[in-house]
Amino acid sequence: MSLSLHNRYRHGEWPQDAPWNEVIESLLQHRSVRSYLDKPLPEGTLHTLVAAAQSAATSSNLQAWSVLAIEDPARKARLAELAGNQVHIRQAPLFLVWLADLSRVQRQAEQRDIELHAPAFLDSLLVSSVYAALAAQNSVVALESLGLGSVYIGALRNNLAAVIDELQLPPLVFPVFGLCVGYADPDKPASVKPRLPQQVVLHRETYGQPVEQQLVKNYDQHIAAFYREQGLTTPSWSEQAVERLRSIQTLNGREHISAVLKGQRFEQK
Ligand SMILES: Cc1cc2nc3c(=O)[nH]c(=O)nc-3n(C[C@H](O)[C@H](O)[C@H](O)COP(=O)(O)O)c2cc1C
Repeated sequence: MSLSLHNRYRHGEWPQDAPWNEVIESLLQHRSVRSYLDKPLPEGTLHTLVAAAQSAATSSNLQAWSVLAIEDPARKARLAELAGNQVHIRQAPLFLVWLADLSRVQRQAEQRDIELHAPAFLDSLLVSSVYAALAAQNSVVALESLGLGSVYIGALRNNLAAVIDELQLPPLVFPVFGLCVGYADPDKPASVKPRLPQQVVLHRETYGQPVEQQLVKNYDQHIAAFYREQGLTTPSWSEQAVERLRSIQTLNGREHISAVLKGQRFEQK
């Protein structure tokens, strides 16, 4: 088993002849970065990241997503406050907000005096958010290949109405999440976080979970060891996951998204 597979799974068997290359190696090295150097990004980086993002698939070539690049320290500070006071938003030289964006097509429709009916249905919100996520992840793969680090910021939805206001987002635009981008601080290195064993997430032909309980138990031990190495007392994965979904309080304001989305004319029929 290669070192990167060991770090990702901490245990298990791996077929000797499983395909491998540099791209896959880079994917397995992913870790979220929450401490950044005060160092600007190389000239043109944003354009490279957006080109990588725009190369993601998008159904019917609809391209119903956009990205908003924020470098102004004052705006980053305001967004950090709205997103649970996460210091890395202030620290990172670049903060990207990934948008589900049906407004572009809406403007084309208005020019033709045509009314769009599909945006009011849940599938339109779903699919434009999926486009934004696919685009964002392409940019993450690209930035990591350039030696940069990033962390997604889902907490950007905690105060959705205020974020929409701050970014002056028109109707039919929804900020799916943010992404901090910068150089990782080598004094506070992030480590590869072990994942669930493949047998838990990979189903074949039909959905089944015959040995899930035991495998999750084993994983809880691996991740507990990982957190101990990091000097953290984080609970086991299963405990943390259940707690995360147990109550509405853990949504930190995101329980109101549906009302705000209606205001943005994503009506969720
Ligand atoms: C959609 C999304 C939202 C996230 N939001 C946050 C966030 O608000 N703050 C944060 O520190 N990490 C956030 N993360 C990062 C996850 O915590 C991280 O990906 C997870 O713990 C796995 O760790 P790894 O990325 O280092 O492998 C988010 C990740 C995703 C995919």
